[in-house]
Amino acid sequence: MKISVFGAGYVGLVAAACFAESGNTVIAVDIDQKKIEGLKNGIIPIYEPGLKELILRNQSEGRLSFTTDMVEAVEQSLIQFIAVGTPPGEDGSADLQYVLAVGRTIGQHMNGFKIIVDKSTVPVGTADKVRLAVQEELEKRSSHLEFDVVSNPEFLKEGAAIDDFMKPDRVVVGTDNVRTAEIMKELYDPFMRKQSRMIIMDIRSAEMTKYAANAMLATRISFMNQIAGLCERMGADVAAVREGIGSDSRIGYDFLFPGPGYGGSCFPKDVKALIRTAEESNYDFLLLKAVEEVNELQKEVLANKLIKTLGSADEEQPLTGKIVACWGLSFKPRTDDMREAPSLTIIERLLAAGATVRAHDPEALAEAKKHFGDRIEYSTNQYEILDNADALTVITDWHEYRNPDFDRIKAALKQPLIVDGRNLYKPNRMKETGIRYIPLGRAGNGISEAN
Ligand code: UDX
Repeated sequence: MKISVFGAGYVGLVAAACFAESGNTVIAVDIDQKKIEGLKNGIIPIYEPGLKELILRNQSEGRLSFTTDMVEAVEQSLIQFIAVGTPPGEDGSADLQYVLAVGRTIGQHMNGFKIIVDKSTVPVGTADKVRLAVQEELEKRSSHLEFDVVSNPEFLKEGAAIDDFMKPDRVVVGTDNVRTAEIMKELYDPFMRKQSRMIIMDIRSAEMTKYAANAMLATRISFMNQIAGLCERMGADVAAVREGIGSDSRIGYDFLFPGPGYGGSCFPKDVKALIRTAEESNYDFLLLKAVEEVNELQKEVLANKLIKTLGSADEEQPLTGKIVACWGLSFKPRTDDMREAPSLTIIERLLAAGATVRAHDPEALAEAKKHFGDRIEYSTNQYEILDNADALTVITDWHEYRNPDFDRIKAALKQPLIVDGRNLYKPNRMKETGIRYIPLGRAGNGISEAN
């Protein structure tokens, strides 16, 4: 099949590369000349495991090409994926100007039947707006060409995007046209495994599914973060509680890990957008507002623990003279993405409290420099930043932090202290090391340091 993907961002690049990998001819389009030039020369603008190899292979085999020429992209392909950004506006609602601009471009240049697929995360009702934008352009041309608008939300996780796309749990397609549903089935057939499901539904439900999925996952995280807070105060261990509740097949084990708050490009943005959508319908989404508020508070927890443990009586700058080493800056492992990362709030809080902050991250140091400049120290060596520091705090659960050299940590730190925002270490093992260990919600193990 011939496919054009508008928007060579995260979702667009992954989709373009994976569709090409299954034999389709794919044109990836972007208005950013520099990005497209780079891609033509094998420079991939984002870090995602496996993506570069996939792009280079399909490019060299002639199935994947990059262009800034919108007209060519519209004319050449039957299926037109819209994967441009939908940044949050000031009020938290998704800004649709880029999505609608692509719709208008398609309307201006289409030369036959087109299937226009919304892949960007867009609020309920967007497909209707895209349809209208295309229709208006066709009317200006006095054209009666036919087209279909489909909602096909993306459920990729950063760091596992290629795998998620190639082996999806489910593919959701919202369409009101049987013929289009068949074409979409054919397109996704190569990716379907025994366990995968293709779910065809009406357009608005498909649009809602994406937000509902992310809002539900964010809710689980905020819920567990509060259970962890309560465990600390009640002498219980959140890790045991997770085992206990996860064994109920209605609940399951996934996405029940307490942490320093969820971040990234999806959860914070989508939760805000759904609250906003509800408001526009005069509906008060009380639960989601609480999910968001809990998350904001959770981003303060690690800094609070550090201040409580290390801080002086100075109310303004209790960490003056203290050095805090941070492991992990990206919002999650295997990405350099720091959008809405809890590390941003935590480090700002530590700096405001007067601390000297040193940071290590396997991928995100360049990104971090954009935020903090020379206000913090950086190192590509996770142990180097520990020398003479007062504490180590673990913010992101990168693999290299899971089984560290505790002797080395103990020798390097002034008074050995780890504040662990990811519960990476076994409390019993930590007692043996002689390092003071403060995880999240594990008072049942004798660690009862609530913030
Ligand atoms: C998410 C969704 O998982 C994906 O389906 C959607 O398409 C986009 O948003 P992503 O943002 O890449 O993907 O990351 P994810 O692995 O879901 O993690 C999101 C955040 O939640 C991270 O900050 C992570 O640390 C946090 N998290 C996740 C927890 O704090 N606890 C958990 O148990 C799981």
